Amino acid sequence: MRRSARTGQAVEPTPSPNIWNWPEVYELENRAQDATGVLHRAVESRCDLRDRDVLDVGCGDGYHLAGLARLASSVVGVEPYAPLVTRARRRLSGLTGVEHVDVRPGAAQALPVESESMDVVHARTAYFFGPGCEPGLREVDRVLRPGGTLLVVDLDTGFSPYGDWMRADVPALDPARIEDFFAQHGFDSASVVAEWRFDDRASLQRVLGIEFSAAVAARAARSVAGTSLHVGYRVRTRQKPHGLLTNVTERS
Ligand SMILES: C[S@@+](CC[C@H](N)C(=O)[O-])C[C@H]1O[C@@H](n2cnc3c(N)ncnc32)[C@H](O)[C@@H]1O
Repeated sequence: MRRSARTGQAVEPTPSPNIWNWPEVYELENRAQDATGVLHRAVESRCDLRDRDVLDVGCGDGYHLAGLARLASSVVGVEPYAPLVTRARRRLSGLTGVEHVDVRPGAAQALPVESESMDVVHARTAYFFGPGCEPGLREVDRVLRPGGTLLVVDLDTGFSPYGDWMRADVPALDPARIEDFFAQHGFDSASVVAEWRFDDRASLQRVLGIEFSAAVAARAARSVAGTSLHVGYRVRTRQKPHGLLTNVTERS
């Protein structure tokens, strides 16, 4: 098991077979995910990125980095899976206006950035933030400046039918326990329903195929007519206090 030299914490990533094994299909998923812009607006209204130093933790192959970089004064993407670090850097090398973006190998439990150097920590579909992620939350508290924001955009495991499919494959997923965890750790959470809109049925089926077991993906595909579906998200924010009482261990 890998451990952080600084904190001694285990820094094993949470397996993410969708993007690790099928990044091209995950790209289709990312493109489909917010057809009406409702998620984008939910993020914007909760967290001002203008002229901020932003960390995108679990940035995958960097899909969201350029969008964050449009407003932020600097962006650091952190990703534990080496092939995705390479892909993210390659993506950026083909773009303009991203000179202030850097991609670094690392994990939420041991972030490769200075203490109190970030205004916003952003994490999108970040399975590594949930019950048991206290080491990651402590790291976020370390790297955020006082008054900074942690923003986690995650799938709502309680929203039908997508959440039902997730729980069919992973029965241990417990929406109420997840909500309790985030509430106990001082998060404000809001529900957002986004439309996933694909160009064609084949793309929709390929994406379902990387998210679910074969049986659940087949059931999901049968129950979706056409090329779009509605998926629930929880947009969660947590402010690092301006005062001294910031350590998550005091709440756990
Ligand atoms: C579902 S993907 C989402 C990628 C990206 N945020 C996006 O929206 O395109 C989850 C990502 O989290 C990364 N990850 C898993 N465990 C992690 C950890 N402990 N710390 C940081 N990232 C982690 C995975 O390698 C994967 O790239």
